[in-house]
Amino acid sequence: MSDRLDITFAPLNADPESVTVVLAGEGLSFGTKAREFETKSAGAISKAAAATDYKGKFKSVVEILAPAKLGIGRLIVGGLGKAATLTAQQYVDLGGTLLAAIQNRKASTASLIVDCEGSEDLSTEQIAALLAQGALLRHYSFKKYMTKKPSDENSAEKNGLKKLIVHVAHPEKAKAAFHPLKAVANGVNFARDLVNEPANILGPVELAEKTKALEKLGVEVEILDIKDMEKLGMGALLCVGQGSVRPSRLAVMVWNGAKGGKKQKPICFVGKGVVFDTGGISIKPAAGMEDMKGDMGGAAAVIGTMYALAERKANVNAVGLVGCVENMPSGNAVRPGDIVTSMSGQTIEVINTDAEGRLVLADVLWYAQEKFKPKLIIDLATLTGAIMVALGKEYAGMFTNDDKLADELLAASRATGEKVWRMPLDKAFDKLMDSKNADMKNAGGRWAGAATAAAFLQRFIQKDTVWCHLDIAGTAMDGNRSDINQSWGAGWGVRLLDRFVAEQHEKGDK
Ligand code: BES
Ligand code: MN
Ligand code: ZN
Repeated sequence: MSDRLDITFAPLNADPESVTVVLAGEGLSFGTKAREFETKSAGAISKAAAATDYKGKFKSVVEILAPAKLGIGRLIVGGLGKAATLTAQQYVDLGGTLLAAIQNRKASTASLIVDCEGSEDLSTEQIAALLAQGALLRHYSFKKYMTKKPSDENSAEKNGLKKLIVHVAHPEKAKAAFHPLKAVANGVNFARDLVNEPANILGPVELAEKTKALEKLGVEVEILDIKDMEKLGMGALLCVGQGSVRPSRLAVMVWNGAKGGKKQKPICFVGKGVVFDTGGISIKPAAGMEDMKGDMGGAAAVIGTMYALAERKANVNAVGLVGCVENMPSGNAVRPGDIVTSMSGQTIEVINTDAEGRLVLADVLWYAQEKFKPKLIIDLATLTGAIMVALGKEYAGMFTNDDKLADELLAASRATGEKVWRMPLDKAFDKLMDSKNADMKNAGGRWAGAATAAAFLQRFIQKDTVWCHLDIAGTAMDGNRSDINQSWGAGWGVRLLDRFVAEQHEKGDK
């Protein structure tokens, strides 16, 4: 696990650290504290701003060295731009930018002063909490296997920032506002750790075991082993792992947080947890294969989401299910041409052992419906290279049988900046999955690879089940780096799903 940034809240008049950030709005408008600094230092901020043509544009920064009479070594001014128009997500992004500016300097503790006025929608304390969440997300880096100390010249760690003190008029209120936001950031960072971890350390058993960390948050965890899954008839999931010396697992996380009690139908989140995807007998080319340690990005998103929901005690019943397997070629591996029977009873001709994720999901989706009768299911999977051809690393592909769910997820997507784009489910794609030898085959032809994969999954969705499949092959790993993510493993999906739950399933007595 990476070193976490410790964030605390202090009153505005607490002594600032040697590296301190203040905010300035468009046209260099200041809050109370920045104005005080400006006066005390005989106009140090406005002089520096004039010299650098700095105007407080959103996310722009200027740094002032040893301003007179402030007892501060480096004063970083961060721009708010038109503060009144900023969205919550923009404050989160700004928090990331400011953290990066701090990290350019050597300091183990830094101050961030939040003295701006609140807007119609956001109080100053909420703004402070949002900035803090952005800082926490940006601070994440995976350096567990770096043996060089920060003091070493070759260290990958730029500096050792350990603590950020957020100065704000009502620190207790800001702390309370930060609590749920911190839970979500912790969920994202937990997911990032899982995705970044190499497959020699994180096998299917270990991935499943990681869910046990959620027990301390009140989540009930059950782990099914091979025998359990054999009894359930999960021939599709099991055939994927049969070539690996490391046994498959299915981890189930249950969070019963709904005020209405256990009777309320849960939402199910299903994740593809292929800890490494060699392709199996239909082996992948060598170049870039190391990235396939991230083929459990869907499982990581589900575990991270459950983590966030439980830590912030979400008013919802939710179940996370992750199928954990390793796809290896060996004398025991499933062969192209093999026919397996899924838990649903439907038979599948495995024509390409590299189309393994859908085999895993087929059984986990079926199990989720049989066992939990959920009000809706969302699955996340690094399922196809084809989704990257269509949408690049910017958007996840969204396939759903429900227009309302599509709209709700799109709204959560807009709010969080985790972008999704709706893709088609179509009988014509479904037909391409028919097989001459079994009920279906596991790979369609050359075209519409992401849509045929989704059509395959839909064959395991029961009539009347509201369902959405998110193909996150482009976004889960090595996605575009951002203000709030510099990590290879992005933890993509946690913020999206958390927001979806908060907006659609926690309000009122649903
Ligand atoms: N895990 C891969 C998809 C993938 C590729 C994710 C690159 C992230 C980066 C998946 O199991 C796979 O191999 N899909 C095949 C399906 C094909 C054989 C029908 C693909 O996309 O080529
Ligand atoms: Mn594959
Ligand atoms: Zn895969």
